[in-house]
Amino acid sequence: MAQLKDKVAIVTGAARGLGRAFCVGLAEAGAFVAAADIDLAGAQETAEQINAGGGDAIAVTVDVSDEVSTQQMAATTAERWRRIDILINNAAVYAGLERKLFDAIAVAEWDRVMAVNVKGPWLCARAVFPMMKAQKSGKIINVASATFYSGSAQWSHYVTSKGGVIGLTRALAKELGDHGVNVNAIAPGFTLTEASQSLIANAEKYGVDRGAIKRAEQPDDVVGLAVFLASPASDFITGQTIIVDGGRQLN
Ligand SMILES: NC(=O)c1ccc[n+]([C@@H]2O[C@H](COP(=O)([O-])OP(=O)(O)OC[C@H]3O[C@@H](n4cnc5c(N)ncnc54)[C@H](O)[C@@H]3O)[C@@H](O)[C@H]2O)c1
Repeated sequence: MAQLKDKVAIVTGAARGLGRAFCVGLAEAGAFVAAADIDLAGAQETAEQINAGGGDAIAVTVDVSDEVSTQQMAATTAERWRRIDILINNAAVYAGLERKLFDAIAVAEWDRVMAVNVKGPWLCARAVFPMMKAQKSGKIINVASATFYSGSAQWSHYVTSKGGVIGLTRALAKELGDHGVNVNAIAPGFTLTEASQSLIANAEKYGVDRGAIKRAEQPDDVVGLAVFLASPASDFITGQTIIVDGGRQLN
């Protein structure tokens, strides 16, 4: 696979889980990868894994909820490779997020989820856009969640934040089409990562019966769509949110 040969990608939340899988998948498709995370040690492991396999990756520290930090992430990437073609907005407050009734969620917790999950993708898009505008091309891929479509009790901060991601995807797609920038979202179903496994007991079995394809979802199941949305094969697709969940939900 060389659909992304010489393309430069930034993936946020790259220290582990889905973010690491996106980094590895993009690198296998030929991209240079900036693995960005607030957890720099984890991002370094991701970059080392790619470099050990013959790819070209760097680790970048970022807090996606901080404007200056997102600008530094874009600047570091542009200094290294002189372009930015792909942004995957994957970082989120997800691991460790406790289920709580909507009126039991502390205001500070609500604000933190929105700051990382919604403001984060907006700030990261702002940070890379000058480069994409100058290049007259770019692919922004936001990671939403299938839980937006199903709703989920005691999860209102998270579900609302993923609705925000889908709204941002649509609005940016309309604004950036004239600049050659496509903006789409991926909505994974419940996927086996360290984070999801820490949230739910018997995670391997969770929801499997509801799928058309009756097995647990793995991070690699989501990577193919990310590569497609980052590649020229999807040049006429924008503003869309695509569910990847083995047919648990149909829309
Ligand atoms: N695992 C699932 O079942 C599932 C399902 C649907 C959607 N998602 C979404 O996929 C993405 C990845 O999920 P995951 O399971 O790998 O979770 P995860 O919690 O392991 O990954 C999130 C990553 O984001 C990083 N991060 C958190 N706050 C940050 C910040 N302020 N700045 C920079 N990085 C920050 C974390 O360090 C972590 O590496 C998230 O957007 C999540 O909402 C996951």
